[in-house]
Amino acid sequence: MKLRLGLRPKALALLETLAALGGYKARFTRPPSREGYEIILPSAMYAPWSSDRAFLEVYRKTEGKTLVDVYRCYELWQLVAQSAKVPGALLEVGVWRGGTTAIIAASAKANGIQDPLYACDTFAGVVKAGEKDSAYRGGEHADASESDVRRFLEGDLHLKNVRLLRGIFPEESGQTIADPYFRFCHIDVDVYNSARDILAWVWPRLSRGGMVVYDDYGFISTDGITALVNEQRRDRDRIVLHNLNGHAVVVKIAS
Ligand SMILES: C[S@@+](CC[C@H](N)C(=O)[O-])C[C@H]1O[C@@H](n2cnc3c(N)ncnc32)[C@H](O)[C@@H]1O
Repeated sequence: MKLRLGLRPKALALLETLAALGGYKARFTRPPSREGYEIILPSAMYAPWSSDRAFLEVYRKTEGKTLVDVYRCYELWQLVAQSAKVPGALLEVGVWRGGTTAIIAASAKANGIQDPLYACDTFAGVVKAGEKDSAYRGGEHADASESDVRRFLEGDLHLKNVRLLRGIFPEESGQTIADPYFRFCHIDVDVYNSARDILAWVWPRLSRGGMVVYDDYGFISTDGITALVNEQRRDRDRIVLHNLNGHAVVVKIAS
């Protein structure tokens, strides 16, 4: 059901409170005014993230360290588990404070994956914003520190399978990676040019059956990522999946 309520924020907040009092969890937001966009409320109710203890143990520790919601975090958790069937290392570009890095690394460890996760960030914010990105200008999300992320992953979570790489990927840190193959890549960099360059680096190294998971697919503020993913639908060597949670998943089917 699509709700189009022309209400002020305070009235929407009141509705949310009333729904909560009635035992319902509701979130009312103003409908976006851009063609091709609407608020999506799937009516399926299967929610395995709420009872998966191993996932929740890690996820709860990512509070304040991720901008990614539980739906996408759980999809990362499950897709990394699936990637155990494919050979190669793992790559994430867009670490920020290490939340999704922790989810990916913990899932790899839980599933017996021996290959490392290369986790790359400038630790100076978003780079390469361009004309395909309507909201980003560059420098966003600079409020993260490499040493804090290292302490979080190694000290708090005891994860030893992460190699943190600082600098613009791939230009400044790609050459330090010797692994020839990859099974999994998470791209969470917000803008078109940056994601395009990462894709160009990782795709020839991706094993058949390996996947690239794009965060930011479908959000109004990250329309450059939506454009980049949509361009790949015609490519014969991959299957493009649009997940309504804000992920796109691209699976390599031919080398
Ligand atoms: C939205 S944040 C990542 C959020 C994180 N995955 C989480 O769990 O919330 C985007 C990050 O991408 C980084 N970034 C963007 N383009 C990059 C590039 N080409 N190389 C390295 N880091 C990049 C920024 O510095 C920023 O920390």
